[in-house]
Amino acid sequence: MNMKNNFYNRDIVSVDDFCEEDLELLFEKTDEMKKLVENKGGDDRLKGKMMAALFFEPSTRTFSSFISSAQRLGAGIIPLNGMQNTSVAKGESFEHTVQVFSRYSDCLIIRHPEVGLPAHATKYASVPVINAGDGIGEHPTQALFDVYTILEKYKKLDGLTITLVGDLKFGRTVHSLSKLITKLSSSVKLNLVSPQKLSMPADVLKVLKSTLKAVNETESLKDEVGSSDVLYVTRVQKERFSDLIEYERLKSFYIVDKNLLQKAKNDMLIMHPLPIAAGEINNDVDSDSRSVYLNKQLSNGLYLRMALLDLVLNKQ
Ligand code: NCD
Repeated sequence: MNMKNNFYNRDIVSVDDFCEEDLELLFEKTDEMKKLVENKGGDDRLKGKMMAALFFEPSTRTFSSFISSAQRLGAGIIPLNGMQNTSVAKGESFEHTVQVFSRYSDCLIIRHPEVGLPAHATKYASVPVINAGDGIGEHPTQALFDVYTILEKYKKLDGLTITLVGDLKFGRTVHSLSKLITKLSSSVKLNLVSPQKLSMPADVLKVLKSTLKAVNETESLKDEVGSSDVLYVTRVQKERFSDLIEYERLKSFYIVDKNLLQKAKNDMLIMHPLPIAAGEINNDVDSDSRSVYLNKQLSNGLYLRMALLDLVLNKQ
């Protein structure tokens, strides 16, 4: 590999930190990991390294795929899915917790309900910190494999119409994904489909509008489905609502089902970061050949996180 490894020993807190060359290197490494898993499951290139996963918020995929990634490459793990059985429950501060786990491991994977806490952790950690989702902020590693999944199919983002649907206000995956798209192409048409109450935050929107050829904010999904190359559906983020009546009103604002998809292109990608929590994609779409949320999107999450751990922990 001739490209410079900018990931080595580095914190990953926001997609803002990446340049196009970084992505090229990471995606090349992800291809390598895919082959590795397919051929022999893994190897021991991270032998002697330890990864601590500190999840202050629930997680299925992000947690498990990081654990699987570390172990497939021979690293040891400190897996804390929920901090309720640690000294956090006794009142130990976040800053101390971070310093403690820095002494036992070579990188920290942190998920936290508060925006900016993984970034804050980098000031106290003596090892690299990877943001595994910070409140309504960002989810950079999700965005990385979402883009990888889109590129796997289309090779380039140029000229694609990508439609993000659902909770664009509180959904951290779409904040990271939309900003990451701007790093790779300015000729994407981005449809931002949400109820007005759940529209894309102004700071993210500003970045998108200043870099992309076309950004279209709308409430109507059915008008955009036909021209979309990618339909990226998200869950309305119940845990971010102070008013649960409002949540109930908005949770099923969009339902992607067979009927809606009649209008869609035959080769459109249907994506979702999961979990599907309020039927925003109907079960009958799971087996649609265009759906990748239960197959490729998940596998790519594993391969990409393996690649990231290898690049962060090994100089190459
Ligand atoms: C997402 C998250 O945690 O932000 N889940 C995930 O990591 N795949 C999306 C969500 O919870 O809606």
